[in-house]
Amino acid sequence: MLLGGNETTRKIDSFAINELKIPSIVLMENAAISFVKHIDDNEDNFLIICGKGNNGGDGYTIARQLFSKNKNVKIFCISNENMSHDCFVNYEICKNMGIEIFYKIEELDRLLLECDVVIEGIFGTGLNSEIKGKYHEIIEKINFLNKNKIIYSIDIPSGINGDTGEIMGISVKSDITISFVTYKKGFLKSDIKNYLGKVVIENIGLNENKISHIVNEYYLTPEMIKSFHIKRNENSHKGDFGKVLIFAGSSGFYGAGNIVAKSCMRSGAGLTTVITDKNNFSLNVFVPEAMSFPVNFENIEENFEKLENKILNSDVIAIGPGIGKSHKALKIFEKLISFEKNYKGNNIKLVLDADALNLLSENRELFEKIKNRSILTPHVVEFSRLTGFSPEEINKDKFEIAKEFSQKYRINLLLKGENTIITNGEKIFVNSTGNSHMANGGMGDCLTGIICSLAGQKYDLLESAIIGAYLHGKVADELLKKQYIINATHIIENISGFMNKIF
Ligand code: ACO
Repeated sequence: MLLGGNETTRKIDSFAINELKIPSIVLMENAAISFVKHIDDNEDNFLIICGKGNNGGDGYTIARQLFSKNKNVKIFCISNENMSHDCFVNYEICKNMGIEIFYKIEELDRLLLECDVVIEGIFGTGLNSEIKGKYHEIIEKINFLNKNKIIYSIDIPSGINGDTGEIMGISVKSDITISFVTYKKGFLKSDIKNYLGKVVIENIGLNENKISHIVNEYYLTPEMIKSFHIKRNENSHKGDFGKVLIFAGSSGFYGAGNIVAKSCMRSGAGLTTVITDKNNFSLNVFVPEAMSFPVNFENIEENFEKLENKILNSDVIAIGPGIGKSHKALKIFEKLISFEKNYKGNNIKLVLDADALNLLSENRELFEKIKNRSILTPHVVEFSRLTGFSPEEINKDKFEIAKEFSQKYRINLLLKGENTIITNGEKIFVNSTGNSHMANGGMGDCLTGIICSLAGQKYDLLESAIIGAYLHGKVADELLKKQYIINATHIIENISGFMNKIF
């Protein structure tokens, strides 16, 4: 699903009008037709509240569409002065059709009480300042008198800034927001969820592929995830699904390696090997399907010859969770990234997380070795170490900072957080799944395991991160329906079942 702010909406409208030559009034009609599809046929009593811009124009168009279905429709017109052209045209049609139009604010309480459904088109993407005076009073009344009513917002609940999600003084609290063409960037802000209600994205008659040059940001949907799916051939063998080498876990943190390995196996990798201390036997117990490559941490170099062969046999190497930042960890890390291609002549894909990112921050010359074949999966503090920006600066401008970083180092990036973003420096994908009940130790390790597993199964790194982030969060969202806390182990136990469902 396309993601965009107010400017993107304006660019799309302008492209449709000026390049595709679709008259704006036709787009408005299309928007109204799409909107009305979502209204329950049993509803009968509508109050449509219209502003004077094109959002109001949508409101008048919806009003006459419902009126033509013999619904009981009343309109509250906030202002009939300085209306936008298309708003005025539809206002005039409504008048000519004999739809009752009310203008006095004193009448609004009664109108709100008499109706069953309120549709508000006061402001859309054109809202540009704090809401005051008459507009403030109207929104206050809508929110106050909404008992037993369904409130629909056209495009954006009036009062929410489509770019930032900021409430501009006051906002309508909607039950259903029917937005057009793009999922608005402002909707990503977590504390406005109960202003948005259910969000539906509708079409205004444009083919998504034909406007993709205007938008390079996407909000993940199950359909997108399905579209990436690579079908398994009937005559496949384990070598077809990737040889994944994992360097994760160290004394005191063996669990990290075990979790990465188990989630890698459970999400479908063909062969999984974990580089681990020769004294760690927990791996075999926790995930017997995985192989271990035991190393003597007392004398790291003595393992390197054998390790070289292992590296050159790998399709993907995941590095980082629980390895620490010791000199020995750095030595192994350097060794693991020292070969660009494997015996098959393919790039060895790298999935770098946790301490691998910390080691990278402190040894920047290593960036040269990982370019064009890596995904980095930091959370905001790790990303702050990598970029030099403070977490506050990152949170304020994370799309741009992430994109620039990805371009600069020629890596793919997955920035974890409430709205995890994934970028290759050109496109940005925002994850739509996940919840706060999965915020606990081991979750990141589990995600690393899923991503390296998918990378082994021939998804490219960007796709692996997109699918991995979506599945990881989606499994947690499904589990949340029946349990309060979700741990990495829960995700691992359920991921395969969910992959079955979605693929
Ligand atoms: N207080 C009072 N008035 C305000 C405030 C405020 N705080 N903030 C903004 N306004 C005014 C603006 O000044 C503007 O009025 P003006 O044109 O006289 O200056 C008016 O509110 C604009 O409000 P909107 O209706 O939100 O803005 P716009 O006319 O740009 O329409 C639109 C937005 C196109 C409906 C957008 O939300 C959208 O794309 N929706 C989905 C697609 C759609 O319906 N397209 C319609 C056809 S395409 C087209 O019309 C270009």
